[in-house]
Amino acid sequence: MSIKLVFGTQWGDEGKGKVVDYYGEKADIVVRYQGGNNAGHTIKIGDDVFKFHLLPSGVVRGKISVIGNGVVVDPEVLIHEIEELRKRGIEPKLIISDRAHVIMPYHKILDGAEERFRGKKKVGTTGRGIGPCYSDKIARLGIRMGDLIDPETLRERLEFLIQLKNRIFEAYGIPERLDVDEVFEKYSEYGEYLKDMVRDTVEFLHMSMDKEILLEGAQGAMLDVDFGTYPYTTSSSTIGGGASTGSGIPPSKIDEVIGVVKAYTTRVGMGPFPTEQENEIGKHLCEKGHEFGTTTGRARRCGWLDLVVVKHALRISGATSIAITKIDVLEGLSRVKVAYAYDIDGKKVDNFPANLRDIGKISPIYKEFEGWNMTDREWEKVKEEGMDALPSNVREYLDFIEKETGIRIKMISYGPAREETVEL
Ligand code: IMP
Repeated sequence: MSIKLVFGTQWGDEGKGKVVDYYGEKADIVVRYQGGNNAGHTIKIGDDVFKFHLLPSGVVRGKISVIGNGVVVDPEVLIHEIEELRKRGIEPKLIISDRAHVIMPYHKILDGAEERFRGKKKVGTTGRGIGPCYSDKIARLGIRMGDLIDPETLRERLEFLIQLKNRIFEAYGIPERLDVDEVFEKYSEYGEYLKDMVRDTVEFLHMSMDKEILLEGAQGAMLDVDFGTYPYTTSSSTIGGGASTGSGIPPSKIDEVIGVVKAYTTRVGMGPFPTEQENEIGKHLCEKGHEFGTTTGRARRCGWLDLVVVKHALRISGATSIAITKIDVLEGLSRVKVAYAYDIDGKKVDNFPANLRDIGKISPIYKEFEGWNMTDREWEKVKEEGMDALPSNVREYLDFIEKETGIRIKMISYGPAREETVEL
C-alpha cells in the first residue's frame, strides 16, 4: 500500500483532475489538503461530466474522500455539491477535518473590497473569500469546522468576529453590515447538515496508513503563497509540502510525488507569465485546449511550456515523476517552443527569481522543435510499446523535458477521456 501525491507544477489548471481520477481509481482514500472552492476540476466518466470546486475528485468513484485541515470550506458550496451528487444517485463518502477553516460571508465581502482597493494591481482572485479566510486563520481569527458544528462555540466566535468585521467594513467604506443572529441562524444550519461528516481526519488518516491514499493538490506551485509569483498567488501552500501541513500525513510517509506538467502553460488572473503568447499561438492553445476557467469562466492566458517554472516546482516539491497532460493541444503547430532558461539583464538564469522587478525583465531562452500530428492508432502503439513508439518529433520534445528536469515521465495524457492516457 502506498501514499501518492499529485500536485500542479504551473499556475493551476494543469489537468490534475484527470491525473487524480486515474490514480484515484486504485486508491481507497482521496484527500484534498489546501485551497477551497477557488479550484475547479472536471471529471469525465463515459458521457458523464462532473464539475467540482470543493469536493475531492474521488467522490464520484465512491472513494472515501477527505477534506483535510489545510482546506478552507465554504459550507454553502459544499452542501450544494453534496446535493448535486445525491441528485445523480451518488452518496459521497465524505469526511471533513474539524480543523479546516470556514469561509464566512465577511471573507467574500473583504475579498471583493481588497481587490477594488488594489485597482490596477489587483490579483484577479476568484472572489470566493479564499485570501481573507486564510488571513484570519494565520491571524487566529478563524472559525473552524469543529466550531461550526458546535452552536455554542459558533455563537461565541460570531459575537466577537462580526463586531470586528463590521468595524473593518466601516473603516474600509464598505456599506454592508452583518448581523450576528442572521449569520448564526444560517451557519448553524450548515453545521447541523454537515456535523456527521466532521471528525478528526488526522486520526482517521493515521489509522488508514495501510491503505492506498491519494493526496490531491489544487492550483499549482507558481500560485504558492511562498514560492509563487507573490503577491500574484493564492493564499495556500500549493507545493508538495502543503500536503503534509494540510493533511497531517508526515513527509516521510509519502511514497510518490507526481508533478503534473501541462505541455504548454496557462494562467488565470493577473501577474507575471514570461512565456505568454498574446498572438495566434496563444489563440491556438486557448481554443484547442478549451482554456476557459471551470470556476470563473474566464479565458486563460496561454503560452509556451516554461521549464524554469517546472524545474522550480519539481525541486521544491521533491517530485519523483512527471505526468504530462494535453500534449495533443500542441498538434497543428508547425514549430513548438520550450523555455529552458531566462535572460535577465544579459545574464543567463535558470532558477525562478523572487522579485517582481527581476521577473519583469525576464526574456525566455527557447529551444525549438518541429511540430507533429498523431493519430489514435499511433497512441495505441505507444500504449503497447512505450516511449520508443512515439514519432520522433514528440519524442524529442518529451526527452528534452526529462533531460532538463532530471525527472522521469510516468504518464502522458493526450485527451480528456480516461482511455486517452499512456502509463509508462
Ligand atoms: P484566489 O485563490 O481566489 O485568492 O485567487 C488568487 C489567484 O489564484 C488568482 O490569480 C486566481 O485566478 C488564481 N487561482 C486560484 N485558484 C485557481 C485554480 O484553481 N486554477 C487557476 N488559477 C487559480
